[in-house]
Amino acid sequence: MTTGDAADLFAVFSDPAVVRYWSAETWTSVAFAEQSIARALDSYREQSEVRFGIELAQTGALIGTVNLHHFFPQNRRCEIGYALGSPYWGKGYAVEALEAAIDYGFHELRLNRIEADIDPRNAASAGVLERMGFRKEGYMPERWFVHGEMADTINYGLLRSYWDQRSSARAKRA
Ligand SMILES: CC(C)(COP(=O)(O)OP(=O)(O)OC[C@H]1O[C@@H](n2cnc3c(N)ncnc32)[C@H](O)[C@@H]1OP(=O)(O)O)[C@@H](O)C(=O)NCCC(=O)NCCS
Repeated sequence: MTTGDAADLFAVFSDPAVVRYWSAETWTSVAFAEQSIARALDSYREQSEVRFGIELAQTGALIGTVNLHHFFPQNRRCEIGYALGSPYWGKGYAVEALEAAIDYGFHELRLNRIEADIDPRNAASAGVLERMGFRKEGYMPERWFVHGEMADTINYGLLRSYWDQRSSARAKRA
C-alpha cells in the first residue's frame, strides 16, 4: 500500500459491517487509515508483517487488504488476516487475493504453516478459509472482547503440504 490509498482504505474500515467481527473499532476519520498505512510500511521494513492492498483490476482502486502477520521465523509460521469493502463481497475476490498471499507465504517466504483465528459467526470468513484448504483445529471461548461483548474463536491452520496437494490436484484438473 501507499499513502495515496488512505481514502480507499478508510472507505473499507469505516463500514460497521466490515468490522463486525474485527477486534478494532469502526474508523471515524481518514487519519486512522493514514496511521494504519504508516504502520504497515514500517512493519514491512522491519519484516514483521506483510500487508497487501487488494486492487480492483478494472480501476486500480483499493478495495481491501490481506496481511501476513505474527511471524515466528524459527517455526516458519505466521497468521493471516483479510477484509474487503462490503460492495465487493460475494464475487470471489477474497479467494483470488488469499490465493496470491498464501502462495507468497509458502513459496517466497518459505513458511510451513499459516494460522487464522475467526469468530464462529463469521460464515463468510469460514467459507473463504475452507475453500483455501484450512482445517479447523480448535475452539477457544471468550478469547476476544469485540464491540462490547466477549467473542469466541475458531482456530484454523493451513500447512504447506495441504497447499501443495491442493495446487497439484487443481493442475491435474486443468
Ligand atoms: C470474509 C470476506 C473477506 C469474504 O470475502 P468474499 O469476497 O465475499 O468471499 P468470496 O466471494 O471469495 O467467497 C469465498 C467463499 O466463501 C463463501 N462465502 C462468502 N460469503 C459467505 C457467506 N456470507 N456465508 C457463507 N459462505 C460465504 C463463498 O461461497 C465462497 O465459497 P465457495 O467458493 O466454496 O462457494 C468478506 O466477507 C469480508 O471482508 N468480511 C469482513 C471482514 C472480515 O470479517 N474478515 C475476516 C476476519 S477473520
